[in-house]
Amino acid sequence: MDMKQKVLVTGGTGYIGSHTIIDLIQHGYEVVCVDNGSNSDTSPLQTIKQLTGVEVPFYPLDLCDLDASEQIFVDHPDIRGIIHFAALKAVGESVEKPLLYFKNNLESLMNILTLALRYKVKGFIFSSSCTVYGDAPESPVTEQTPWQEAASPYGRTKQIGEHIITDTIKDSAMQGILLRYFNPAGAHPSGIIGESPINPPQNLVPVITETAIGRRDQMTVFGTDYPTRDGSCIRDYIHVMDLARAHTLALQYLFDGKQNQSCDVFNVGIGNGLSVLEIIAAFEKETGVKLNYKLGPRRPGDVVAIYADYSRAAQLLGWQPQFTVRDIMSSAWKWEQYRTQLMENSLK
Ligand SMILES: NC(=O)c1ccc[n+]([C@@H]2O[C@H](COP(=O)([O-])OP(=O)(O)OC[C@H]3O[C@@H](n4cnc5c(N)ncnc54)[C@H](O)[C@@H]3O)[C@@H](O)[C@H]2O)c1
Repeated sequence: MDMKQKVLVTGGTGYIGSHTIIDLIQHGYEVVCVDNGSNSDTSPLQTIKQLTGVEVPFYPLDLCDLDASEQIFVDHPDIRGIIHFAALKAVGESVEKPLLYFKNNLESLMNILTLALRYKVKGFIFSSSCTVYGDAPESPVTEQTPWQEAASPYGRTKQIGEHIITDTIKDSAMQGILLRYFNPAGAHPSGIIGESPINPPQNLVPVITETAIGRRDQMTVFGTDYPTRDGSCIRDYIHVMDLARAHTLALQYLFDGKQNQSCDVFNVGIGNGLSVLEIIAAFEKETGVKLNYKLGPRRPGDVVAIYADYSRAAQLLGWQPQFTVRDIMSSAWKWEQYRTQLMENSLK
């Protein structure tokens, strides 16, 4: 009988982690999940069960606690791969509390690497970010584009994290892949799982849907005098299910022994930059809902424009985005309406 390969997903009840678990299960992997609940609750585990029929073993643990975290590997010594999503990710908060970000994001990373080596894990995938490029002088950026100064302590945890992984696994049997995400957005096409952070969302698409549904009165476009085609910032929005797929493919690539070097890195974006105003227009067109937004000043820490050259992921991993910006908008809106209904029902 074909044995399923076991994968530990850290930060697995969070936004990208929960969507990736669905893709992993649908591609024949057995998943174990850990999350400390600092930015999610456990409800995605029920939805994953509803969508896949699988109950994922869950450890409500803080990865900064090495001894407690070891229990996962004692119970599951056959974990072959780790996808490490767990981290704090609020850019603004990281400026106010840099030590919290360095401690949480780097200590958890060093602990999971320690355990990965101790338990002879084969493949390690890391959630990196296009923030490692800083304020890139031009786009698209390739994996070779030199890094600029990180715009925040959060961004620096990703730069340092990449170095920690590369140095740590260099002479080991474990191999790593660093995935540099651009701007993940949207929800599973079912509309019953999506982005649902405990802390207020800061990313554009959830702010748009929260404004559209009336949870926020108004939203602000930060900066309309950037040197772009309409003055607002340009980003590369990637559907969360396309991003999830990139993780499954990256893991398979390692398990199939296709990677020659110890650690490799891939941009995961769709290669198409859209401005904030274009995204707002796309939402209004797709859903027919008019957004109440105002134009405001620039926000510190925002880079002008960045989008990906993803040809490396296309060539080596066989990854191609399947979803469009319209799919991002329709799925995010479907999810917002669904979760608002859930919240209203729970208040009745
Ligand atoms: N969403 C984005 O725009 C984006 C872009 C680039 C990179 N990333 C990275 O992708 C990863 C996942 O992001 P997301 O959007 O799903 O965020 P998220 O906040 O929804 O998920 C992260 C999860 O990690 C958990 N966590 C945090 N610290 C932990 C710890 N010490 N121990 C155990 N669990 C812990 C949180 O509770 C949360 O559920 C993060 O590493 C993030 O930095 C996100």
